[in-house]
Amino acid sequence: MSLLSRKRRLVATLRADRALHDPQWIDAFAEVPRHLFLRRYFVQTGYRWLAVEQGDAGWIDRIYADTVLVTQLDDDPDSWVRARREGPVIGTPTSSSSMPGIMAIMLEELRVTDADRVLEIGTGTGYNAALLCHRLGDSNVSTVDIDSTLIAKARAALAECGYHPYCLLDDGELGCPENAPYDRILGTCAVSRIPPEWLEQTRAGGLVVTTLNRPIGAGLVRITAGHGATGTGRVLARDGRFMPMRAHRLPPIPELPEDEMTEPGQPTSLSVTGLLTPPSRFEFFAGLELPEVCSLHGDGPGITWLAHPDGSWARQIDTSEGFLVWQGGPQRLWDRVEDAHARWLELGQPERSDFGITINRDLQEFWLESPESDLRWPW
Ligand SMILES: C[S@@+](CC[C@H](N)C(=O)[O-])C[C@H]1O[C@@H](n2cnc3c(N)ncnc32)[C@H](O)[C@@H]1O
Repeated sequence: MSLLSRKRRLVATLRADRALHDPQWIDAFAEVPRHLFLRRYFVQTGYRWLAVEQGDAGWIDRIYADTVLVTQLDDDPDSWVRARREGPVIGTPTSSSSMPGIMAIMLEELRVTDADRVLEIGTGTGYNAALLCHRLGDSNVSTVDIDSTLIAKARAALAECGYHPYCLLDDGELGCPENAPYDRILGTCAVSRIPPEWLEQTRAGGLVVTTLNRPIGAGLVRITAGHGATGTGRVLARDGRFMPMRAHRLPPIPELPEDEMTEPGQPTSLSVTGLLTPPSRFEFFAGLELPEVCSLHGDGPGITWLAHPDGSWARQIDTSEGFLVWQGGPQRLWDRVEDAHARWLELGQPERSDFGITINRDLQEFWLESPESDLRWPW
C-alpha cells in the first residue's frame, strides 16, 4: 500500500471514530508523515517490550493505525538499544507518540485560529509539533521536553520534514517564558495540578488543554486563562489518558497483603472494574471523592484491588455468586466507594463534563455545574 493510501486510511479511521472533524486538522493528518518520527519504537508482548525498527514486519502498519507507539522506557535513552540486543525487556513507558485519535481530539479541543501562538509541553517524537507547524506555521509553535535525547531526535525529524519550531530542552512545568505570551498551551503529558506558569504565560482569554494525572478519574480539561496564574475551565466529555509529567508521577503502590483471606468476604453488587475504570460514568466523581486511591488488576482472573498510599487496601473477587470484598488498613476503602456511589446517585449521576475547575495560585478545585456551586473538591 502506498504512503498516501496509508495516510488517507488513518484520516478515514479518525473521522469514522469521530476524533477528527476540522478540515484544517484533517489536512494536517493527511500531510504530515508520522513514520519519519517513529523509526524505532516498542511493541508490548505480555509484560515485556519488544524493540521494532524500520524494515521490521508490521513497522509501517502500526504507524498508520490509531495506535500509541512507545519510544522510551524508564527515562533510559538506551532502553530501545538494550531491548534490541537482549530481547524484550520489562519497563515503564516514559515517552511515546500518542494515539492519533487522542491527538486529534486534543488538537480540536485547543480551538486554534490562524496565527495563534502555541506552546506544546512534551515534545516526545515531535509528530504533534509537526501537526501544529503544518496548521499554524513554524514561527507560531514552541515545544519543550525534559529529555535531551528525545528533543534532539525530535528536532532532527522535524527538520527532515521541513518544520522548524522552537524546540526547548527544559522542564515544561515552567512553560517556556522566552516566547510567552501564548494563545494556547497544549500539555501532552498529564499533570496532577495545573502549573501556575502555564496560566501566567497564556494571554487572558487564551486556552490551556491538558490531561489530568489522577489514579482514578483522569481525563481531559480545557481552561480559559484569566489574569496572572488564574483560570476557569471544564472537564471535557471526550476522554484521554497520557503518561505523567516527570515531577507529577504518582507515588509507588504500597505493598498489598499476600496472605489468604481467612474472614468471610463482604458481598456487594458494585464492581471495581465496572465502576472505577473507563468508560464508567461514575469514575470521574469517584476520583474526586477518593483522590489518592488507585485500582489494580489482581494476581488472578476476576481479582481487583484498591490501594491508598497510607497502606489501606480493598480486594474484590468476582465469584459465580457475585462480588466479595475484603478490606484492611487505616481506612475502609470499600465502604468509601459505596458511600461515594450513593452520593453520586443522590446527585443525579453527574458525568465528567458536568464538572469544572477553578485555579488560583494557592488553590485548585473542582466544582459541580457552576463555579459558584457549594459542591467543591480541592485538587
Ligand atoms: C506522551 S509523550 C508526548 C508525545 C509527543 N507530543 C509526540 O507527539 O510524540 C510525553 C512526553 O512528555 C515528556 N515530559 C515528561 N515530563 C516533562 C516535563 N517536566 N517537561 C517537559 N516534558 C516532559 C516526556 O519526556 C515525553 O516525551
